[in-house]
Amino acid sequence: MTSKSEVEKHYASEGITARVLTALRNVNGPNVPITPDTLAPIDHFHGKGVIATEELAAVLQPRASGHLLDIGCGIGGPARWIAAKYGCRVTGVDLTLEFCEAARELNSLTGLTDRVEILHGSALSLPLVDDSFDRAYSQAALMNISDKGGVFREAFRVLRPGGLLALSLAGAGTAGEPRYPLPWATTTATSFLATPDEIRGDLLATGFEIVFVRDAAAASAAALAPVLKQLETEGLPPLGEHVVTGENAKEWRINWVRSTAEGRLSMIEALARKPA
Ligand SMILES: C[S@@+](CC[C@H](N)C(=O)[O-])C[C@H]1O[C@@H](n2cnc3c(N)ncnc32)[C@H](O)[C@@H]1O
Repeated sequence: MTSKSEVEKHYASEGITARVLTALRNVNGPNVPITPDTLAPIDHFHGKGVIATEELAAVLQPRASGHLLDIGCGIGGPARWIAAKYGCRVTGVDLTLEFCEAARELNSLTGLTDRVEILHGSALSLPLVDDSFDRAYSQAALMNISDKGGVFREAFRVLRPGGLLALSLAGAGTAGEPRYPLPWATTTATSFLATPDEIRGDLLATGFEIVFVRDAAAASAAALAPVLKQLETEGLPPLGEHVVTGENAKEWRINWVRSTAEGRLSMIEALARKPA
């Protein structure tokens, strides 16, 4: 057995699926159907919830016959939601074993095992063969990885020629260091923030063509202002990422929204293409 990295220790906990189901049934009743939509308030772990997954998928336009890769898939909410909505297959890879186990259990409960596969592994060494995916995406995972070029080289390797890579991640801002702890890291030891220009440079150096790289921090901060107010006045809602990560999520989310509004974090969105 290998020891856990600091990143895995940040995310890992026992009994995730049981907590998710208990929270869902407490709020929606014992007979609530377990679907990608009913799970969505809990299992999209990137701050902006299912709306962000919807926006990312709209950029990728998955085909029903397509096969997508989710790099850093968490407990699989985005992968299940995209597979259910577009009828495609999704393979998710994640470093945190407990997240992979919960993702597989939730795949089974939602009846999506045949279309959503979860692999335990690192984005820097994908357990996948070359030229095997039409599309790839990574949401809110690259902040934990310093060697972003290494992730892009692996994504490039497993994408078919003409394949697309979509990214959404928090990045460095222009107004100094963000406030820690944050949802992905309690200190700078496991937080590696790049600027939009650095992401562009790493993608180009890998061989990708850039469709766009943009900073959506201003729009995010505006959209998240009501979330901050709710957190400060009413606390955490009954359903949210904290069901997975614990009550610390309140402080983490407040710091994330404030740091974004203060220009201490950017919100990088990118779309790149492996040349045909
Ligand atoms: C904030 S969560 C986002 C999860 C998911 N993308 C979502 O949006 O719901 C970040 C995820 O990245 C994963 N991660 C961090 N470093 C990784 C690496 N080197 N390889 C694969 N996954 C990694 C973590 O285990 C965690 O599940």
